[in-house]
Amino acid sequence: MGTTICFDDYGDSSVLRVREEETPPVNAGEVRVSYRAIAVNPADWKIVSGYARDFLPLQLPAVPGNESAGVVTAVAPDVTGFAVGDEVIRVGLGNSYRAEANVPAAELLSKPADIDFEQAASLAVAGCSAYAGLERIALQAGETLLVHGGAGGVGIAVTQIATHLGAKVISTASAHNHEFVAGLGATPVTYGPGLVDEVRALGGVDAVFDAHGGAGCVAATPALLSDLTRATTAAQDEHSAAAGIAHVGASMADMGRLMAAVTDLAREGVVRFPVQERIPLAEAARAFDISRAGHVRGKLVLVP
Ligand SMILES: NC(=O)c1ccc[n+]([C@@H]2O[C@H](COP(=O)([O-])OP(=O)(O)OC[C@H]3O[C@@H](n4cnc5c(N)ncnc54)[C@H](OP(=O)(O)O)[C@@H]3O)[C@@H](O)[C@H]2O)c1
Repeated sequence: MGTTICFDDYGDSSVLRVREEETPPVNAGEVRVSYRAIAVNPADWKIVSGYARDFLPLQLPAVPGNESAGVVTAVAPDVTGFAVGDEVIRVGLGNSYRAEANVPAAELLSKPADIDFEQAASLAVAGCSAYAGLERIALQAGETLLVHGGAGGVGIAVTQIATHLGAKVISTASAHNHEFVAGLGATPVTYGPGLVDEVRALGGVDAVFDAHGGAGCVAATPALLSDLTRATTAAQDEHSAAAGIAHVGASMADMGRLMAAVTDLAREGVVRFPVQERIPLAEAARAFDISRAGHVRGKLVLVP
C-alpha cells in the first residue's frame, strides 16, 4: 500500500491526483522497489501538460517521474541480478511518482552505497544530459565554456564536470543566484540584454552549453561562437533547431554508459546536486508548480 500520483488527462498541476493503492504481485521480469527519493525534472511538467505528447505518447491514466532511487522489496523468480534489500536507481519514462512500484528489471541499476538516495535519484536526467552534452562539444582543459542556466539541475552538473575537466566556466543566472553559481566555480553573468557584451568583456568563449533554451539564449550563442559544432542544448526547441544547435543527445540506448560515468563522478564528489527542497510525495503538485515556474536552484526531491 502506498501513495501514487497519477493523471487522467493532460493539463496543469490540478490534474495530478493523490491515490493510495495496493501494489500488485510482481510479474515476470519485474522487481518491486520501495522508493526513498524521486527527482523532479522539467520533463515531468512538460509530459503532464501534454507538451511532449507527439513524441512521447502515454497511455492515460499515467504516473509522472522518470527517475528515482529506493530499496528492492520483491523480485520475480525469473529475474537475476537483484535481491530483496538491494539499493537501486530506477530510470524510465514515467512511473516514478510512487511510494512503491513494480518495474522491469531492465530499468534498474545498482545504487552505490556511498551515494545517498536523493543524489542517486537525481543523477540520470540532469547528470547524463550534462555529460553527454560535454562529450558532444568535446570540451577540453583550458577552454572557456558558457552555460546558459547555470543554477538549474543540468547547469550545475555541467559546471561541476567542466571545471573538473580543467575548463573555465561562465554561467548565466539571475542576480540572486550569482553567489550560488560562483560557489560552483563559475563566473556569474546575468542573462538578457547585455549578456553578449558581458561575456565578450570576459574574453569570450570556446564552447556553449544551453541548459535553458528559448529565443534569448539561442540568439546569444551564435553571437559568441562562430563554430556551432561547439554548442549544444539540453532544451531543444524551434529556436535551437533553426539555429542549427544540436541536442545533447543523451539517448536511453546510451544510458548505461552515461550512468556509469556520472555515477563514478558522483562517487568522486565531482557531481553533487544541492537540493533546493525536499517535498512530501503527496504534495507533488506543489513541486510541479515550482518546477514549471522555471527558477529551481539545484534539485527538487519528492520524498514518499
Ligand atoms: N535529455 C534531455 O533532453 C534533457 C535532460 C534534462 C533537462 N532537459 C531540459 O533542459 C532544461 C533545463 O533543465 P534543468 O533540469 O536544469 O531545469 P531547472 O533545474 O528547472 O533549472 C532551470 C534554470 O533555468 C534558469 N533560467 C530561468 N530563466 C532563464 C533564462 N531566461 N535564461 C537563462 N537561464 C534561465 C533558472 O535560473 P535562475 O533562477 O537563475 O533564473 C533555473 O535555475 C529544461 O528545459 C529541461 O526540460 C533536457
